Amino acid sequence: MDSVKDIVEKLIMTGELTAEEYVFLLKNHEQSEVRERLTKEAVRLREQYYGKKVYTRGLIEFTNYCKNNCYYCGIRRGNPHAKRYRLTKEEILECCDQGYALGFRTFVLQGGEDPYYTDARMADVIRLIKEKYPDCALTLSIGEKSYESYKLFREAGADRYLLRHETADEEHYKKLHPQEMSLSVRKQCLYDLKALGYQVGAGFMVGSPGQTYETIAQDLIFLKALEPQMVGIGPFIPHHETPFADMPAGSVELTLFLLSVIRILLPKVLLPATTALGTIDPKGREKGLAAGANVVMPNLSPVKNRKQYDLYDNKICTGEEAAECRGCLKRRVASAGYILVGDRGDAV
Ligand code: 5AD
Ligand code: FES
Repeated sequence: MDSVKDIVEKLIMTGELTAEEYVFLLKNHEQSEVRERLTKEAVRLREQYYGKKVYTRGLIEFTNYCKNNCYYCGIRRGNPHAKRYRLTKEEILECCDQGYALGFRTFVLQGGEDPYYTDARMADVIRLIKEKYPDCALTLSIGEKSYESYKLFREAGADRYLLRHETADEEHYKKLHPQEMSLSVRKQCLYDLKALGYQVGAGFMVGSPGQTYETIAQDLIFLKALEPQMVGIGPFIPHHETPFADMPAGSVELTLFLLSVIRILLPKVLLPATTALGTIDPKGREKGLAAGANVVMPNLSPVKNRKQYDLYDNKICTGEEAAECRGCLKRRVASAGYILVGDRGDAV
């Protein structure tokens, strides 16, 4: 095996590595020379394609009902203490109205897999938003559906879809999810979404229970092959009412390192500095931008419901003080030396 320096240069030159090389690189991710070289290259690439622009997406968490029981997630159906809510279509539209006035040109409808929101109801909401705001991009993040459902949403006007693959390793997937879920279905959903012409986002948690450098290597190989337009990664953070309550949180440093690696694998990718990153480190999102991220997703959900979209403990942007999350993020982005822009922010 080459030295870690050679592997870093290979990654920069070719934009990919073998599984063994990724593992070797990850084992050395704490070395300052390795980190600095990769961060520098990630920032150079981000600036080459996107300049100083950071895109913003208005996140509307419209339901926390979920029929799934993922072991890591606070709104899993098996959590009887989760206070459930769902927004009506009128409330969703009000969020868009407020968001539009604040300058958002992308809305992300995110929710649990809520049976109330049937395909017909979803398609109705999608149409209403796109009729009212034809100049805006609409992103869905509502989990696993059939090809037919994705097709219906696409025809109704949805442009993008976020569905993290969570882990590309079969065994690891089983440690994070109950029997009824499978990695092959997850992957099929992502391929279906691509085939239907969505801009697709995949991704995973950093430090989820059972994750190893080997599984992360599989994630990176999967991402390179899928070529999604967006990749969402953030640290795992335990939720006290889940089976993973006592597991340790993921590492900020490894998350930042992986943001840089992903920027190098997929130079034009839209890469958010996530809320989870901002939750485990007060400067996490600013650090994410400095590592190669170029998207932030302020919360547009009604303040009265924000605490209820409780995926993990101590989630930020949920209090009264966060009512104007966009203003807060705008200042944060500026402080990191970037410019928050309001346009749709399609992948270049
Ligand atoms: N910690 C961090 N991220 C989480 N997610 C769900 N639960 C947690 C948690 N405990 C992430 C998953 C999911 C996305 C919406 O939020 O990766 O895809
Ligand atoms: Fe959401 Fe500061 S970024 S409140």
